[in-house]
Amino acid sequence: MKLVVVGKGGREHALAQKLKSSPLVTDLWVAPGNPGMQQAGFSCVNCESAEAIEKFCIDNGVSLVVVGPEALILSDLKLRLQKHGIACFAPSMEVAQLESSKLFCKGVLKDAGVRTAACQVSYSEDQALLAVGKHDFKSPLVVKADGLAQGKGVWVCNTWDMAEEAVRTLGRHFGFPLLLEECLIGKELSAFALCDGEDFVILGTACDYKRVSSDPFSANTGGMGAYSPCDFVNEADEAEIRSIFSKTLKTLRDKRLPYQGFLFAGLMKTNEGIYVLEYNVRMGDPETQALLPRLKTDLAGLIMKAVTHQLKNEVCELASESSVHVVATSEGYPGSPMKLGNPITAKVLSAPDRHLYFAGVSRINDQLVNVGGRVLGITALGSTREEAREKVYQEMQAVNFDGMYLRQDIGL
Ligand SMILES: Nc1ncnc2c1ncn2[C@@H]1O[C@H](COP(=O)(O)OP(=O)(O)O)[C@@H](O)[C@H]1O
Ligand SMILES: [Mg+2]
Repeated sequence: MKLVVVGKGGREHALAQKLKSSPLVTDLWVAPGNPGMQQAGFSCVNCESAEAIEKFCIDNGVSLVVVGPEALILSDLKLRLQKHGIACFAPSMEVAQLESSKLFCKGVLKDAGVRTAACQVSYSEDQALLAVGKHDFKSPLVVKADGLAQGKGVWVCNTWDMAEEAVRTLGRHFGFPLLLEECLIGKELSAFALCDGEDFVILGTACDYKRVSSDPFSANTGGMGAYSPCDFVNEADEAEIRSIFSKTLKTLRDKRLPYQGFLFAGLMKTNEGIYVLEYNVRMGDPETQALLPRLKTDLAGLIMKAVTHQLKNEVCELASESSVHVVATSEGYPGSPMKLGNPITAKVLSAPDRHLYFAGVSRINDQLVNVGGRVLGITALGSTREEAREKVYQEMQAVNFDGMYLRQDIGL
């Protein structure tokens, strides 16, 4: 089978590496990938638009495309490929609203009878300010934009002043409606499923670190690290997570929106049980880099079964080991300016318990340099999370570029 992985970050590096190890895959390209992946032996093709990817796939007899980032899931790529009989493992544009509209997502969760934070919808600034005025702030109020906001659309507000500012700022930047949610207290985790439109398998759980430092009020990032599995998830929780996916997917099917693709549930484990904060219609970055090295079942095989609706009775086996993934970022990230263009020293890791994944890198005169906020990441596996942590930080000592920054507390 000839396969294309779409995307250029650490998530796609991890996906490509896992898929390449499958006996089912004869040829694999990453579109567009990055020069770090190229250095690690992947064939990268310079295609970023849906049109260019479509053309490449036709010209090269590609039969399966696996899409990483939401931007291309929300484009017409799947429709274009389907016209040529090329399987595209991604949800349809229509059902992808699960991520691109938090209001749509709330509606599905409500119909599915899945626990989620109580929420009011405001269609104008006046309506939102009125609702804020009525909140007693014995607990915080969460103000959310409806659409995609690149991690900048959610404010957890402790005071009236802050909530009013959130309404004005989010309204100005992202428009209305806004969602005003009760604040849930608990432990956050991400759970991933692989879905065929009818059935699904659970891939596993991971916890990520969104803040740039251990200070919970420090800047929000794309993700500074992750670990897998989430050790606070017990068997009862696992059953509940399965039921959450099952009810959600059934509700979507009933709405004639069958879901095929990776499905990412952002969850909060509270004293009352597990709540869904949101769904994303793709794998997480960096959760993928922590989760996939633990996957023992052939991922390409699972995806082939998913695109042919044959996931029923399939299971997915994960190594019992723990993994820790740490991201190295450029100086200045997530602000600007960032210190970019510095030569990177990093050795390619190929041991089964250590993986290096490239993200924001470019090549100048045969030398890799940093060109993005999140530059690369390393995953290590160990019989305990502590052992994985020790290995990952040890491997990070061999990585260097001017201004390199990483959190020291991932997996603690
Ligand atoms: N109802 C809620 N209660 C408590 N925290 C929340 C709630 N909703 C969101 N959050 C916090 O805000 C973060 C971002 O919210 P989320 O719904 O995942 O939006 P997005 O990922 O699109 O920015 C969550 O990871 C969580 O930490
Ligand atoms: Mg989120």
